[in-house]
Amino acid sequence: MMGFLSDWWRGGTAVIEPASPRDAARLAQLHGASFHRGWGEGEFDVMLRERNTLVHRLRLGRKVIGFAVSRMAADEAEILSIAVDEHHRGRGLSRHLLLTHLGHLAGRGVRKIFLEVEENNQPARRLYGRMGFAIVGRRERYYQQAGGEQLNALLMRRDLS
Ligand SMILES: CC(C)(COP(=O)(O)OP(=O)(O)OC[C@H]1O[C@@H](n2cnc3c(N)ncnc32)[C@H](O)[C@@H]1OP(=O)(O)O)[C@@H](O)C(=O)NCCC(=O)NCCS
Repeated sequence: MMGFLSDWWRGGTAVIEPASPRDAARLAQLHGASFHRGWGEGEFDVMLRERNTLVHRLRLGRKVIGFAVSRMAADEAEILSIAVDEHHRGRGLSRHLLLTHLGHLAGRGVRKIFLEVEENNQPARRLYGRMGFAIVGRRERYYQQAGGEQLNALLMRRDLS
């Protein structure tokens, strides 16, 4: 199952499809550009081979411009990371990426999905809110910034039927 999304204004079509170990270097690059503590190529390589980890890539033409990663355990999953290349943000691509990803989780028998998001991360909070995730907890000073600043995390949950 793949997700297609027409992207007329850029003359390309965005495709959401399962990632493979061959994507490890590119996904590490995207992750490193989006998060303070980036995951290395080796970490992605391991996750891409693990059976309990689900990774989708967002591709525009020949270029991978985003990904979603989650880990499954019984009928629960945790979304570990989602990112879109900064040049392609703000066009709704993450919603399609997440929707496809959630569909695959449902297909694997997942019923409860959890994730953590930094309290001030408005784009991510809007994305998750729109996708039906609800806040179920808050962790004070959960994230440590490079400058020493400590930020709160929100724990969110969505049930799949
Ligand atoms: C979060 C992320 C994946 C969203 O990707 P995207 O393709 O730009 O998402 P969308 O275009 O669907 O936009 C998501 C929402 O954020 C809003 N948004 C975009 N940029 C924003 C900004 N700078 N400030 C506030 N809201 C913003 C959009 O308007 C949209 O909300 P809406 O649907 O209510 O209009 C992307 O911003 C990203 O990769 N961020 C860095 C990594 C990250 O923080 N991941 C989440 C970790 S939990």
